[in-house]
Amino acid sequence: MPTDISEIDTITHDVIVLGAGGAGLRAAIECSRQGLDCGVVCKSLLGKAHTVMAEGGAAAALGNADKRDNWKFHFRDTMRGAKFLNQWRMAELHAKEAPDRIRELEAWGAVFDRTKEGLINQRNFGGHRYPRLAHVGDRTGLELIRTLQDKGVHSGLSVHMECTALGLLTDGGRVSGLVCYWRETGRFVIFRAKAIIFATGGFGKAWRITSNSWEYTGDGQRMAYDVGAELMDMEFTQFHPTGMVWPPSVAGILVTEGVRGEGGVLRNSEGKRFMFEYIPERFAPETADSEEEAQRWLDGDDSSRRPPELLTRDVVARAIYNEVKEGRGSKHGGAYLNISHRGEAYIKKKLPSMYHQFKELAEVDITKEPMEVGPTFHYAMGGIRVDHDSQMTNVPGLFACGECAAGLHGANRLGGNSLSDLLVFGRRAGLGAKEFIDANPDLPALDEAQANKILDWAKAPLMRESGENPYVLHDELRDAMTAHVGIWRDEEGLAAGIEVIEQMRARVANVKAHGSSQYNPSWSEALDLDSLLLCAEAVARGAKMRQESRGAHSRVDFQGEREEWGKYNIVIKKGDDGQMSIERVDRGEDPPHLAKIARATLEQLEAGDV
Ligand code: FUM
Repeated sequence: MPTDISEIDTITHDVIVLGAGGAGLRAAIECSRQGLDCGVVCKSLLGKAHTVMAEGGAAAALGNADKRDNWKFHFRDTMRGAKFLNQWRMAELHAKEAPDRIRELEAWGAVFDRTKEGLINQRNFGGHRYPRLAHVGDRTGLELIRTLQDKGVHSGLSVHMECTALGLLTDGGRVSGLVCYWRETGRFVIFRAKAIIFATGGFGKAWRITSNSWEYTGDGQRMAYDVGAELMDMEFTQFHPTGMVWPPSVAGILVTEGVRGEGGVLRNSEGKRFMFEYIPERFAPETADSEEEAQRWLDGDDSSRRPPELLTRDVVARAIYNEVKEGRGSKHGGAYLNISHRGEAYIKKKLPSMYHQFKELAEVDITKEPMEVGPTFHYAMGGIRVDHDSQMTNVPGLFACGECAAGLHGANRLGGNSLSDLLVFGRRAGLGAKEFIDANPDLPALDEAQANKILDWAKAPLMRESGENPYVLHDELRDAMTAHVGIWRDEEGLAAGIEVIEQMRARVANVKAHGSSQYNPSWSEALDLDSLLLCAEAVARGAKMRQESRGAHSRVDFQGEREEWGKYNIVIKKGDDGQMSIERVDRGEDPPHLAKIARATLEQLEAGDV
């Protein structure tokens, strides 16, 4: 029997921001600054977000630690790191606007580490030509969230916490609202709005080893897809090279790239600094090829060539994976990462969280002994396709920013570019929503039939007499994705992965959540499965279609980049038959004014020739 919608609480705002991490908070602050009444809805607690896992810093060409840096170098690094598959305009906006967003954060109270001259300090990170990451020890994401929370609360945001979104409502194609439930009481609630901004993060919980926490199940991607939004670049999933590998209970927890940025060295079980063996041709001219040369860089005597530990994440993750596979792994199946040569005082000052993390969780004193590290699923480069400038999707009134949106990072994201991404494009999403609402000022209608469909779907796992255990299904999905859609992929494995996902779809339709609707994690797990499966399928199908290796997408059976594939992004949407439709979309001509910068040599850029 249909639910009487009038009995469900309805909350109305001009704009709803879904997600209270860095992107959501920055978008919400902008909405408030633009005079909009803004509600922030989050699955968990305000500020409990993956943003805090960007520990090592926010990338912005401030030029404080090296005066030669400017937006053009940052833009070039981002394009090259992404293997030229990112959206040119987004990379341009990001590189140009990131410094202002960092300075703005400072004005709002963020306490960054300082240079001797009192400027915001910047550290090295993989793929960045100059020290570019504004940081707060190894707790940058946390400080960013703290600052945005403070600013947001004082901007008059309404915050709705522990509220899970179930589905989007539309009115004549335009978004009109969001059906949710309060986790504590299990009661449904409908949010109505003139525009909705998704900042829901990624979907790392589809893999076994991940730095993501329980919230990251791809809800935003699934809900957007359901109302006709497009997903793009889903095949590009980032495995951060350094997660904890021991003890098993903490496997996957992030070990910040800041460790390597501060001079951390990777060795295998034979004591060999193996990264020298993995320098790709493209990066060879900029990478040290001997220990002595790398040491000179660390001593500050020669910044022309960088240590190989600071190659891009895709390269370092594959190298560690390979060392382990070939029998040269650390005791518990990773690599050894040593920073002890920097001395106790320096380590405790620059990497305090890493010091405590290893001491408390692994009984390892990193000021004296190496850490054991290995790849961990960290970030989705792909996500909801958006307009470059406004962040609006192809569904009118629906915006996306941060990790759930696609476009800036292409085939591989550079570390530190996520924090600057969420600041730059969170703000732009807020501005985009304002522009949209100015042009469409009426509150769209509430479609009760649509709301009822979502409610029926949500109630089903509770109402069934019996059915499959959602935890078992999630566990099986993690195994399948790890086995078939991991760092290395091939046709056979991807086909097997897709088959498992298809079989699971049928089983998920019969999942049973025991207990009542109040604070019931099993119900929540059951509801997350559809989102996880949608994202898993999109990644696997995209990976199967892309017959080349590029950035974070590595095919055993199609090694190396193929020129032909550099011309396309893969776009996924719900077909008219309800099935997943997948196509290659031509990227068009490279914009000459930007291509000139991205493809310039360092010498040309340094000489100011472009
Ligand atoms: O390693 C890190 O601190 C992570 C940073 C990032 O993903 O941007």
